[in-house]
Amino acid sequence: MLLLAAAFLVAFVLLLYMVSPLISPKPLKLAGAHVVVTGGSSGIGKCVAVECFKQGAFITLVARDEGKLVQAKKEIEKYSINDKQVVLCISVDISKDYRQVENVIKQAQEKLGPVDMLVNCAGMAIAGNFEEIEIDKFARLMEINYLGSVYPSRAVISTMKERRMGRIVFVSSQAGQLGLFGYTAYSPTKFALRGLAEALQMEVKPYNIYVTVAYPPDTDTPGFAEENKTKPLETKLISESSSLCQADQVARVIVKDAIQGNFNSSVGSDGYMLSSLTCGMSPVTTITEGLQQVVTMGLFRIIALFYLGSFDSIVRRCMIQKHNSQKSCKTD
Ligand SMILES: *[C@@H]1O[C@H](CO)[C@@H](O)[C@H](O)[C@H]1NC(C)=O
Ligand SMILES: *[C@@H]1O[C@H](CO)[C@@H](O)[C@H](O)[C@H]1NC(C)=O
Repeated sequence: MLLLAAAFLVAFVLLLYMVSPLISPKPLKLAGAHVVVTGGSSGIGKCVAVECFKQGAFITLVARDEGKLVQAKKEIEKYSINDKQVVLCISVDISKDYRQVENVIKQAQEKLGPVDMLVNCAGMAIAGNFEEIEIDKFARLMEINYLGSVYPSRAVISTMKERRMGRIVFVSSQAGQLGLFGYTAYSPTKFALRGLAEALQMEVKPYNIYVTVAYPPDTDTPGFAEENKTKPLETKLISESSSLCQADQVARVIVKDAIQGNFNSSVGSDGYMLSSLTCGMSPVTTITEGLQQVVTMGLFRIIALFYLGSFDSIVRRCMIQKHNSQKSCKTD
């Protein structure tokens, strides 16, 4: 009986390895490719642009602030590997008006050719207690983080389908894999990207277009410093359980995974654990990835339960502390 089971297992794994080349996409060559990066004037977006430029790509940077765009363009141009390479800057708010985004993408395609890769980095984070976050912020975050990724993707997809090639990257977050204290406005916008990515990937895979969702941890960027100012104590204590990453390190991993056409892109050991835990019905592009998920999931769930316990106790401790200090204020 045991022998039979073992034989089945071996046959199954062999079969998987045989079909593996059939499901793995051909890597995209960045030399001479046109890469559009939204939110490209700072943080992870700028580093993604640098990484692609270093590999010979032509870049369109899209962001709101014209001054920052010019600055970023100068920085990126230092990394050119040939004198044909161009960095085009377009200043627009990609979360407001779809027609405007469509026009901007058209302009970029007229100047630098069809888009080979779109990296949706534009986004922002707000942290706070649910009842203290200004009510308009819920809609605004959904606009920037979700619609701001839908619009550019929608504007490039038809040309990609016609050309039977392309890559689209959504930059989600570890907060798009689990909900944490303080992120009632932010997390849902990042979860939404995952749903979009899964549905879109199923539609466009026959057209040789691959979608990547990146789940970076806390990353040392201007956006993070801004978010840091309003973070509740609980959120700070909880996020201390993972380390602060550098933007260039995160960008390198994102570009590598996008070139490969991997659906998931994560950084570090906790990133690895989270993407295994939350793989759900997401697509795989290599058999080894699928096997890793099957083998590690149960174990990671046990570790996750310990983390959850410690997060809950942080939240409880903070509540008791606040309660006590309020009481002492009243008696004083
Ligand atoms: C975030 O704020 C804490 C203090 O609340 C500070 O120690 C830390 O350096 C800040 N981190 C960043 C990246 O700004
Ligand atoms: C997710 O992507 C990372 C690389 O970015 C990889 O190391 C890891 O194995 C992937 N995890 C899963 C569960 O596929």
